[in-house]
Amino acid sequence: MCGIVGYIGKKEKKELILSALKELEYRGYDSAGIAVMKDGRIDAFKAIGKLGNLEKKTKDFTSHNEGAAIGHTRWATHGKPTEINAHPHFGEHSYIVHNGIIENYREIKEALIKEGITFLSQTDTEVAVYLFEYNLKNSKNAFEAFEKTILSLKGAYAILLITTTAPDSIFFAKNAAPLIVGKNDEGEIFFGSSDAPLIGHAKEVCYLEDGQYGVLNKNEILLYADRKKVLPVFKDLPQDKSYAQKEGFRFFMEKEIYEQSRVLGETLMGRIKNNEIVLEELDEHLFEGISAVKICACGTSFHAGLAAGYLFERFAKIRTDIIIASEFRYKEPLLTKDTLFVVISQSGETADTLEALKIAKNAGLKTLAICNVDNSSIVRLADSTILTRAGIEKGVASTKAFATQVATLWLLAIFIAQKQKSVSKERLESEIDTLLKIPSSLIVDNATHEKIKRLSKRYLHGHGFFFIGRDIFYPLALEGALKLKEISYLHAEGYPAGEMKHGPIALVDSKLFTVALLPKTMLYDKTKNNIEELSARDATILVISPERFELADDFIKTQHSTHVMNEFFEMMIILQLLALEIAVRLGNDVDMPRNLAKSVTVE
Ligand code: F6R
Repeated sequence: MCGIVGYIGKKEKKELILSALKELEYRGYDSAGIAVMKDGRIDAFKAIGKLGNLEKKTKDFTSHNEGAAIGHTRWATHGKPTEINAHPHFGEHSYIVHNGIIENYREIKEALIKEGITFLSQTDTEVAVYLFEYNLKNSKNAFEAFEKTILSLKGAYAILLITTTAPDSIFFAKNAAPLIVGKNDEGEIFFGSSDAPLIGHAKEVCYLEDGQYGVLNKNEILLYADRKKVLPVFKDLPQDKSYAQKEGFRFFMEKEIYEQSRVLGETLMGRIKNNEIVLEELDEHLFEGISAVKICACGTSFHAGLAAGYLFERFAKIRTDIIIASEFRYKEPLLTKDTLFVVISQSGETADTLEALKIAKNAGLKTLAICNVDNSSIVRLADSTILTRAGIEKGVASTKAFATQVATLWLLAIFIAQKQKSVSKERLESEIDTLLKIPSSLIVDNATHEKIKRLSKRYLHGHGFFFIGRDIFYPLALEGALKLKEISYLHAEGYPAGEMKHGPIALVDSKLFTVALLPKTMLYDKTKNNIEELSARDATILVISPERFELADDFIKTQHSTHVMNEFFEMMIILQLLALEIAVRLGNDVDMPRNLAKSVTVE
């Protein structure tokens, strides 16, 4: 995920901006850049790869005395991670850095091209700086031009802009991407996309709200929303760095669970237009001659693949089979060219998945990667990629990567359905409508989290856990069990609820905990019957459902929803929090559980 920093003051600006960017490295990035304004002139530098490359490029540059500077680390979304696509982007007089996605950038770009403006990069960001400079020609001053520009942008943005037409100032705007302003007693001003780079420099901070924009110099802060002036509210900044990287949460995993609603918004951004799924990254001929899909992945990504199997067959009406990558490699698989080979990977570096992809490519299959890391080995090898846009995931136990994988695969299922006309227009419209609103199902309910914290103390012993569910809730049960195993070190298995009586039920007694997923929108009565069978054998049962269930020992209530995916994502959050709180009570290292690595690059 991109990072933004800015500074106004007398200190040496290159050092300050580079060290601030270092504090944002944990978010992940593939290129970086800075722009420094002094004495009415702007110097800018960009480099791909790590900050060390930018340090080398700027080694002979210094900038003391009063001035302004901006910096950026980029996590590619629109356009490859190249130096041209790196920020800051620039016009004739101005430089801009931006986090987020400008959804209407194509419309703006086309209009500006008609005015004779030539674009250099493939990014959405560049339109903002050109539009600003275009507006400058018909505005009283730089602020008016900036305001016009911001009010014509749609999407998510945290923006900093410097311009020689208003030296000493930084123009800023925030919508659905974080941006913080900091100040201290020495009259210095700082910007950051999180607290971390501001710690040790700023004494007080103002967390900007969505829709706010303004201009700042060492004498004043002008803050606006919807053309009306607003008063900035500053509060003391805590000075603990690791706390800041976790944005106030106890663990990265917890932070990542809470961030799922927002990152899912990013997954969807720009991919639904006028009630249609638009996947610009896919070749329009990708599905020609394709009559089946084979999905290959490991671990949590495999569970996302299993969930996709239900969505692909149900909506896209396309035969789909799913296989664990380490099994696929040696089974001498029969591959036919009418199969689209899909790999799913958070890291893009998992050795088994990468090798499986090579086998499919060598067999001449069309390949598609669903991946979180652009330019990773898997992305480079696959014919096409859809990036999941979860941002860097630090917790070893995957949470937001899973959520964005499932959302991306659901998006893809509807995209295929739309292309193949495999479901009615009304069904398509209702799916897209639900998809658009899905981020709200991932907002963590504080009362539910508190309840899970309390309940967790009852689940620290026993001889194991069953997680059960039917249909798409079966892969979710598998994922719930995997999360618990990984960080609590307790034995847990996921099962299809209807499978219990074929063997596993022999294990059931009062010390066997069953976590039952009982959604209202999917096979409610059948799953209820399966839970009753377990209850009759004295299992200790935790039911997660919108409907109270009398035989449950514990119960976590979910919302009544009309769509199965709302229930899916709400229950997913509950399972993640349950695993987290049990592991916390057991005193385990939640973010770095024993024996596990974040990226498994060996067989
Ligand atoms: C579980 C987890 C692992 C990964 C698996 C595949 O929380 O993180 O099971 O899902 O190692 O990794 P990727 O998705 O990077 O290919």
